[in-house]
Amino acid sequence: MKKVYGVIGDPIGHSMSPVMHNDLFEHNEIDATYLAFHVKKGNLEAAVTGLKALGVSGFNVTVPHKTDIIPLLDDIDPLAKAIGAVNTVVNTNGKLIGFNTDGRGFVRALLNKGLSLTEQKVLVIGAGGAARAIYFSLAEAGVKEIDVCNRTVEKALSLKEACPFSVETKVSSISEAEKTIVDYDLLIQTTSIGMSPQVDDTPIRFKALKTNCFASDIIYNPLETKFLKEAKFIGASIQNGVDMFVNQGALAFEIWTSIFPDTNRMTENVLKQLGGSSC
Ligand code: ATR
Repeated sequence: MKKVYGVIGDPIGHSMSPVMHNDLFEHNEIDATYLAFHVKKGNLEAAVTGLKALGVSGFNVTVPHKTDIIPLLDDIDPLAKAIGAVNTVVNTNGKLIGFNTDGRGFVRALLNKGLSLTEQKVLVIGAGGAARAIYFSLAEAGVKEIDVCNRTVEKALSLKEACPFSVETKVSSISEAEKTIVDYDLLIQTTSIGMSPQVDDTPIRFKALKTNCFASDIIYNPLETKFLKEAKFIGASIQNGVDMFVNQGALAFEIWTSIFPDTNRMTENVLKQLGGSSC
């Protein structure tokens, strides 16, 4: 019988996951389909009960359900529990088990760029849900020094305090971080600032960066945010959010099928959907 997978969220109409995963099912000769389900906040519990009753094999979870879904699951992976957010669910013999592949996907994307992560002095800009997944996953991967700056400093502090992995972290405001930005090997932009249509906005300003600095932005629309443009202009290597999106999807696909898919193929597929080219 054909297996059914999907993604739940609100809004969901522009999700690139259905085209990306359906291509992978076809390419790997797996008899399955992936659908987008528009689930409003108040309907989450009913939707999850329905997906379970229908025997859906697995699904992704996106805004605004990543945290609210946790009490509705039968089990949760320790990293997802620590992050407090689930983006991937697998149905194993009728039990729904939650994972978070966002942070690990981001780490994979960095490793694919050839970065030796443990030696990096890292600055995470932002302290929301995406920052939390990335910060915990970098700490899990053995990065020793990860500073966090945010508009609301208290949120960065609670992120640091909640981390279950050992890591050295200084917390600061964005303007404080601007003064020492030249010390960092790796800058990670996790806020929504600079996302289309506000493409002229950037969360942090700098005139110089460390030689060989690497700047990564989780935004993929536009492919080159103002933050990345400014970092590139100064000489940094840059990476946009396509790689994180592809790798979180690849890790979800692996959880569902035990096959780690071809991420180059996925990147091409996503860029086609976005109508541009990667950096
Ligand atoms: P996500 O789950 O996508 O990370 P989020 O949890 O709402 O979204 O977090 C958004 C991040 O962007 C936060 O770091 C937020 O800063 P605050 O914690 O101070 O709210 C940051 N952010 C959003 N809009 C911002 C703005 N206009 N200026 C500065 N930071 C902003």
